[in-house]
Amino acid sequence: MPALIATAAPNAHAAPLGIGVYRPRRIVPNAEIVDRIDSSDEWIRSRSGIAARHWAEPDETIVAMSAAAARQALAAAQLSADQVDAVVLATSSQMVLGPSAGAVVATELGMHNAAAFDISAGCAGFCYALANAANLVRAGQARHVLVIGVERLSDLLDPTDRTCAFIFADGAGAVVVGPADTEGIGPVAWGSDGSQTAAIKQDKDFQEYFAEVAAAEASGGTSQRPYIRMNGTAVFRWAVTFLDKACRDALHNAGVTVEDLDAFVPHQANSRITDALVKALGMPERVAIARDITDTGNTSAASIPMAMEQLLRSGAAKAGDTALLLGFGAGLAYAGQVVHLPAIAPQD
Ligand code: UT7
Repeated sequence: MPALIATAAPNAHAAPLGIGVYRPRRIVPNAEIVDRIDSSDEWIRSRSGIAARHWAEPDETIVAMSAAAARQALAAAQLSADQVDAVVLATSSQMVLGPSAGAVVATELGMHNAAAFDISAGCAGFCYALANAANLVRAGQARHVLVIGVERLSDLLDPTDRTCAFIFADGAGAVVVGPADTEGIGPVAWGSDGSQTAAIKQDKDFQEYFAEVAAAEASGGTSQRPYIRMNGTAVFRWAVTFLDKACRDALHNAGVTVEDLDAFVPHQANSRITDALVKALGMPERVAIARDITDTGNTSAASIPMAMEQLLRSGAAKAGDTALLLGFGAGLAYAGQVVHLPAIAPQD
């Protein structure tokens, strides 16, 4: 048996080098949603922390939003597209099963022969993608990896669903990961609990939907497209009773404590979940807490890079700061890691 070479030249360390986002043009305030779900601006703000969200228009596709965020991230990292070896794109709302959105984005950006693939891990998707990107860089399989979290969840929303219609939203965030002199992405703490898949799921698969359409055509009846559904209480309970352990594991894996943190960027699911985690972890007052949910809603796989960029853009955190990231959601899957925050590009 011939000996195989384990890897090309490995890099000792990986770090996030630059970050960019795309926020869809259309801002949808609570007032636009409340009548259809018998709710109120006050209820939505107090129970979720959301005041408004962005919903994409037809031209703001998964690929277009990803490419826009990626261009900003590359500018922030002072790299060109041809210096990227791999694209790892996390999403749960790309309606095309093939080719991967990552491959189309790579081509759109002018990359030639970059490895490209998609990851489906719900709202934990960005942190899963980041962990994989860091490992690719450290193993020497890629020098620079473009990590993208992107969603068009408005395509999957039943506008009359009181649990989901006001929460989910659209957008994209991208981070370039590359080699570094010191470690900038701690080991991931991750896992999943498939026994709770019913807590967040698409209510029917496309085979069932096509059968429903055919039956409706034959009988003159109606059919309803697949929608995302959530048992909000079950997810909320899991989040506030289990995820502080995931955070502690991520801190432990990186060899730091909450006292070492400058920022906390949890998935923007519900500001009350963020509050519960901050309290359970005994987060010091000076730690900057991401609250992008207020104006952005819950953008699932895009929420962490978007919230990270908002903290950096507002000045509440700066490049190089130590931040704990935590993604969690459908699966139920979670992933968290400690990072040194990347640079943002100067605004146009
Ligand atoms: O991103 C993936 C991960 N997702 C999450 O982490 C989401 C986790 N879950 C949540 O964020 C929350 O469960 C929700 C924000 C979705 C719901 O908040 P809640 O406090 O758990 O509401 P609830 O379902 O327990 O309902 C409380 C009350 C009920 O009324 P009564 O029975 O107390 O009179 C509901 O009928 O609020 C009522 N309600 C509403 N009222 C106005 C439920 N939905 C609405 C609504 N507007 N949209």
